[in-house]
Parts: sequence; C-alpha cells; structure tokens
Amino acid sequence: MSELTSTNTNQTRNEPTPTPGVLEPRVGLGERGPFRWKFLSTVAMCRANRVLDRIPISRWIHRRILSRLAFTEFDVELQGLPPELDGFTVAFASDLHVGSYLHEAELTTIFKLINSVQPDLVCLGGDLINSRLTELAPFERALEEIDPPHGVFAVEGNHDIFFVDEREAWTDEIERLGIRYLTNRGVRIGESNDSFWLAGVDDLEEGRPDIAAALAGRRADEPVVLLSHHPDFFPFAAEVGVDLQLSGHTHGGQICLFGRAVVTHSSEGFTAGWFQRDASRLYVSRGVGSTLLPLRLNCDPEINLVRLRTSPRDCSSP
Ligand SMILES: [Fe+2]
Repeated sequence: MSELTSTNTNQTRNEPTPTPGVLEPRVGLGERGPFRWKFLSTVAMCRANRVLDRIPISRWIHRRILSRLAFTEFDVELQGLPPELDGFTVAFASDLHVGSYLHEAELTTIFKLINSVQPDLVCLGGDLINSRLTELAPFERALEEIDPPHGVFAVEGNHDIFFVDEREAWTDEIERLGIRYLTNRGVRIGESNDSFWLAGVDDLEEGRPDIAAALAGRRADEPVVLLSHHPDFFPFAAEVGVDLQLSGHTHGGQICLFGRAVVTHSSEGFTAGWFQRDASRLYVSRGVGSTLLPLRLNCDPEINLVRLRTSPRDCSSP
C-alpha cells in the first residue's frame, strides 16, 4: 500500500489559464492514413492476441496473473476540497482489455472486488475492450455487482477507438450500460458549493483531447480530478491547473526487468506511479488487463482506491 499525502504548501494553486485547445491525434492509427505500416502491425498483433486467447493455457496463465490483482490505495490532498467530501473514495480501474484473456467471469469477479470496498465513485480509465465492440457485452453482467452512489464513469482508450469503426457505437453502448461517458466532458460531484469537478479527455494517440470542453462549467475554486487514458496528456493538464490526473495505457510496462519496463508507451517517461508538475499530480496505473501476451512480469495488475483529502487552500497568493 502506498500513500501520498504530501502537498507543497508553499506552492500556490494553479489557476486556470487559457487552454492549449484541441489536440490532434498523436499517432492517428484510427484514421488508417499515413501510418499504414503501424496500422497493419497493430491489426496483426491483435489478430495474434485473439488466436492466443482461444488457447486454454493462455487463459489459465492470465487467471494466475489476475489472482494477484489488488488495490493500491492512496490519500490525495486536494486544495479546496470541501470538508464534506473529505474521505471521498474513487475506485479507478484502467485497461481491462475485455476480450484479451479476460472475459465475463473474470470481469464479474473484478467488479465484485470493487464493490467490496464500497467506493463513492467508479472510474474506468479506457481500453475497456481489446479489439471488438462486442467485448462490451460482459459489462452488462459485471455492472450488476456495483452501485456506487455517485455513478460509474469512463473515458475511451486507444483500443476503444482504433478497433471500433464508429465512435458513436461505443458511446451509445457505454451509455446503454449505465456508464457515464466522460470524454471531453466534465461533471460536478457533490452538492452546489461542496463539490469537485470530475473531467475526462479523449485519448492522446487516437482521439482529440479537448481540455477546455472538459473543464467547461467548472467553478474556479473547484478542485479537478481528470481522467486521461494516455498519461502524456499530463503537461497540458498541469498547464491549466488540474489537481490530479489519473491515467493508464502503459500497463506499467507489463514486463519489467531490473526495475525497468522493457517497453514503455509514454514518450514522457510516465510509465507507472506518481509524477508531479507544479501543484498538479499524475498517477499512472499499471491497470488490470494484458494485451498481446498473457504475461506480466514484476508488474502486477492493480485497481486504485483514491481517497480524496481536504487541504486548506493556500491564501498566500495575492
Ligand atoms: Fe491498454
């Protein structure tokens, strides 16, 4: 169990500044255009993933990996969080990759585990599916296991966009399941002035993150918790004073040797754990599922239980 409670009280809270605007896809595989070689290799890897998924030993190995799934809990102080919300808990589960060795039975068990800690809110950090829209179907049964008082929210990951021909189809299905779609949107959590702002942005590789849209409607004094599948959005989030960004995407490297990820999918080095820029903090979750190979080495799956803590607003600034 790790804990983060330290906050630099000498640092003033970043007030919102003009936004960097809508970002264009970094890779744009979903557009099947200039990166065709990468598009083809991604499709090939997912086909291999599907073949391996049908081999019983692959699922057996993955079940062994999932048996090590545990909560990583931490407290996060948010400047301006009202005392009424002190202790508010957010369960954050990213990169489930349903369809890649993880199916309805495993997903239902995972949601029972989430329910066991009775979070106030559940957030899904993208890559809910691996390569087919039909992989959302198991969520219907699994979601029966949870009923957090403030709801279930999700943003899309690169897999959710790349492998679904029409994004509206994914969105429609998510909302039919009762999951609130948070891509480039925000919502107030709590009552009137006793609240924080929960926001989400689009995937940095396959989508068009729009932080201005995500923060539209937020009061200037509300702390912000942002979901961004891709951790590399963090510099943009920090620029506009987001208090806490929760991300996944990297799987913590999935395979780590000598304390380092063999492959990292963050060009900023945001592979796993905590990062800080000014008063903004980023946590990159190792996530739940696995892609391509049913392997995790020195990189156990995790669900995060984030406990929000009140921190007095720094009034030393003019
Ligand atoms: Fe993923």
